[in-house]
Amino acid sequence: MIYLDNAATTIRKPREVVDAVTSALTTLGNAGRGAGAGALDAGRVVWRCREAVARLLGCPRADHVCFSANATEALNAALSGLVRPGDRVVTTVLEHNSVLRPLARLADERGVEVAHAPCDGHAFLDMDELERLVTPGTRLVSVTHASNVTGNLVDVARVAEMAHAAGALCLVDASQTAGAVPLDMREAGIDVVCFTGHKGLMGPQGTGGMAVAEGVEVLPWAEGGSGVRSFERRHPLDWPTRMEAGTANAHGLAGLEAGIAFIERNGGPAAVGAREHELARRLYEGVRGLPGVTVHGGWDVAPERCGSVVALCVDGLGSDEVADALAAGWGIACRAGAHCAPLMHRALGTERQGIVRLSCGWFTTEEEVDVAAAAIREIAAA
Ligand code: ALA
Repeated sequence: MIYLDNAATTIRKPREVVDAVTSALTTLGNAGRGAGAGALDAGRVVWRCREAVARLLGCPRADHVCFSANATEALNAALSGLVRPGDRVVTTVLEHNSVLRPLARLADERGVEVAHAPCDGHAFLDMDELERLVTPGTRLVSVTHASNVTGNLVDVARVAEMAHAAGALCLVDASQTAGAVPLDMREAGIDVVCFTGHKGLMGPQGTGGMAVAEGVEVLPWAEGGSGVRSFERRHPLDWPTRMEAGTANAHGLAGLEAGIAFIERNGGPAAVGAREHELARRLYEGVRGLPGVTVHGGWDVAPERCGSVVALCVDGLGSDEVADALAAGWGIACRAGAHCAPLMHRALGTERQGIVRLSCGWFTTEEEVDVAAAAIREIAAA
């Protein structure tokens, strides 16, 4: 298989990740719930993973890194915990449904006003329009670090600056970038970063969470066992307990810790991302200008603001047909369709056709992207 669906999940994991999870499965007890060695070791693993995420994202406090099952859960929790009835929230057409749908619910149930900033002709976020929408009194600006459809990056430091100038908080969805694009929330002035563990961080599915700047008030979203203050009627408000209820996924977090260590050992997100970006650039060069092929996103105007994705359409074919042909003819795995990002597709005019998204990862090879480019050439010429 040629795996070009790393934006959905990375399937080739570092050996250390596999070993860490395998060992954790039969050695770790329940973190924070026991006095035995297994429970204590689980607590240590979970804490070390908080420290690793804090280091990676520039979060000043490891106890403000809270884990969840994935970025969707973290985004639901963060949005619901930050936004109060009647607030105004500004987001963008680049967002995934993991932001759009929780905000739609908050609009329906809490009377929250939601505005969506548009993109320009190359699918980059329109910063001027965003600035116009972030009016004084806006409670929150929620923005992705990169479109999951095109890979186009967003200057989140500038967004945070705009948000703060209007008295708003800034939440960044780093699902597509954590581990592959440097992000320092302290330097960039970001209040909350939500991330997932199974993509660029090379960890297992079922891991993710949020990193929260000190002093930002996020109300709990789930209540239950905390391992501490058991006689209190409500869930404790201490960090990170306030955003976590029930047994931690110590098995998965052992793998996530190993994934982050692998990234750090290989030069950190800048170096890892640069390699993935170069592979995507090679793929783009292989398909650009092919008759019948349209590449969406910013590759032809600002490649330095593109991630590791090549998003394309082939004239006369649905994206599902192209993806099926790639899988059947060349064993290439990619993602077609709408990518849970309806507003991005509407902006690109691809609601019906969908887009073929080819996404590179650390373990992708040059030979693999060359085969993919040749396959697209052949499909378009047929
Ligand atoms: N959100 C993931 C993607 O973009 C699953 O494919």
